Amino acid sequence: MASKTLSPAPLIPILSQSSKCTSQCLRLRPSSRPSLPPTSHLQRRHISAYGYEQAKALAFSNYGEPPQVLSLHSHSISPAHGNLMTLRFLASPINPADINQIQGVYPSKPTFTTSLGTANPIAVAGNEGVAEVIALGDKAKSEGFQRGDWVLMRGPGFGTWRTHASATSKDVVKLEERAREGISPIQAGTVSVNPCTAYRMLSDFVHLEEGDWFIQNGANSGVGRAVIQLGKVWEFKSVNVIRGREDKTGEERLKKSLYDIGADVVITDSELQSQGIKDQIKEWTNGGREPVKLALNCVNGKPATALAKLLNPNGHFVTYGAMSKQPLTIPASMLIFKNIHFHGFWVSQWAEWHPEEKKKTVEHVLELTRQGQFKDIPVDEIRWGWETKGEELIGAVKGTLEGYRGGKGVFVFGKT
Ligand SMILES: NC(=O)c1ccc[n+]([C@@H]2O[C@H](COP(=O)([O-])OP(=O)(O)OC[C@H]3O[C@@H](n4cnc5c(N)ncnc54)[C@H](OP(=O)(O)O)[C@@H]3O)[C@@H](O)[C@H]2O)c1
Repeated sequence: MASKTLSPAPLIPILSQSSKCTSQCLRLRPSSRPSLPPTSHLQRRHISAYGYEQAKALAFSNYGEPPQVLSLHSHSISPAHGNLMTLRFLASPINPADINQIQGVYPSKPTFTTSLGTANPIAVAGNEGVAEVIALGDKAKSEGFQRGDWVLMRGPGFGTWRTHASATSKDVVKLEERAREGISPIQAGTVSVNPCTAYRMLSDFVHLEEGDWFIQNGANSGVGRAVIQLGKVWEFKSVNVIRGREDKTGEERLKKSLYDIGADVVITDSELQSQGIKDQIKEWTNGGREPVKLALNCVNGKPATALAKLLNPNGHFVTYGAMSKQPLTIPASMLIFKNIHFHGFWVSQWAEWHPEEKKKTVEHVLELTRQGQFKDIPVDEIRWGWETKGEELIGAVKGTLEGYRGGKGVFVFGKT
């Protein structure tokens, strides 16, 4: 079982619910909608003598396509007191779920609030990220936090595409000094969702022994790369499906990048759906003697059906995404004659139900990262400084809507 290699890692207190910025948020530039990118004199960085923190956030007041509904909103955060902490974000990824949430088609809804100084409620986009505590009240100190701590979001819906935020201990999880050691902001800011999803899917649905095979599509995604690397650590073998590229050199480069992190086999979706694939699988799995017990699917449509066909009888098929926006179609024979078990997985729900396991999972991935066994995913760093314009940030979000990308978009905050 995958969990056999869990390290006795340090504890990180964890979990749940979104924050509401309350009276601590001072209305500086009231507007009925999130403001457009501010003019240059308003962009000047300013922390008043009274400790007010100026903040900017990519926010939306209505659901819709990100380029249409997002705008950069400026507001002010009053000095932290009591149980409040002021956070400065360090790194926040752009995940597919963030886009779905802005579109209004994600089950976890963001927090719409007027407390950021708008007449109409707005929500800050983004669900994952790491932030530094830069100020805190006495009660927050008594809860074990201090200036300089790094914190992760306890659950979805907090809004992480922002320079600063006000939070309480209910919103965040402290990354203990020892868990954080040697870890970069991008590594910490991207550990909660994709690596945890990969880890649990490899561990919780079927008992995989060393040498057992799993198959997955979306293999070059953040989750897919985490799956490959964890599978390698636990000595499972993998068939990894990517979408083919028109540029065959680029396709080979992409395949190689997955072999480099531990993939056993990498094929394209058209190779997966070709005539000879069953014979190929037999060849790779020692004449079929090494069972293919698990399939991980974030694509759906025909490639997912083709993936399921490669499972051994009694295998497990886990769906965790729907990148192709196609339905998942399963021949009845797979259920009746092959006894394939179909599951779904949602890390947010799992984390709410298993806060302690989530804590251990994050710690273990960070430990593997420190040991060099869990390598960084390719990222497209989007620098966000105080002067960065809203158009630039929203343009970067728009860029992530297209497929065939070189890396995951991550906001990396500079001087904010
Ligand atoms: N259920 C959960 O708990 C959970 C947790 C984390 C992530 N997820 C899901 O996992 C999936 C991957 O997330 P991620 O953050 O790892 O992604 P990512 O790093 O942003 O990569 C996106 C992936 O989606 C593929 N893709 C894009 N458009 C596609 C299309 N039209 N058809 C097929 N594939 C397409 C990309 O392939 P190309 O390079 O070929 O474009 C790439 O492999 C998403 O569906 C996400 O919502 C689910």
